[in-house]
Amino acid sequence: MLTVTNRDLEVLYTREQIGTRVAEMGLQITQDLKGEKLVMVGVLKGAAIFLADLARAVDAEATFDFVAVSSYGKGQRSSGAVKLIKDLDQSIEGKNVLIVEDILDTGLTLSYLRKLFLQQHPRSLRIATLLDKPSRRIEKIDADYVGFSIPNLFVIGYGMDYAERYRNLPDICLMSPEHPE
Ligand code: PRP
Repeated sequence: MLTVTNRDLEVLYTREQIGTRVAEMGLQITQDLKGEKLVMVGVLKGAAIFLADLARAVDAEATFDFVAVSSYGKGQRSSGAVKLIKDLDQSIEGKNVLIVEDILDTGLTLSYLRKLFLQQHPRSLRIATLLDKPSRRIEKIDADYVGFSIPNLFVIGYGMDYAERYRNLPDICLMSPEHPE
């Protein structure tokens, strides 16, 4: 059920719903690891808050790394132009890697990162995304762990922005196209 908080923004998922789902995802990831170590790779900036919560829901020895990709407009991104602007700090060769994303949209970002990371021959490579918009997909790619599958809505909060704002909202909210302020 939708409620209205956060300066009249409509809430899509409350912090409680997010917390419950992130805990479930962490449990699944823990079970799949079977006691092995994990490298969690966050894709800046949107995934920062999700990674922070998901990491604490995973009961395994884990390290963090972060990458950043070009922030071209979505129009340009749709042309396939994804560029790495911050690489991994450490080699992932032979490691169990989990890419952590806030949202899987066209799939261009994750397809690019998956291909790039596989060149380093990790022991395993999995993807966790909090949100998935399957209807928007251009590249064929699926996440191994999906928090919520949603239609093509403009979402903000819990790490996700509109013009760099709203990342610190604790809930995932809908940005009305008519009232972006
Ligand atoms: C968002 C999101 C993903 C990407 C997904 O990042 O965090 O990285 O878009 O889109 P795709 O599947 O169409 O490639 P954004 O460019 O908004 O940058 P941000 O994480 O810094 O907000």
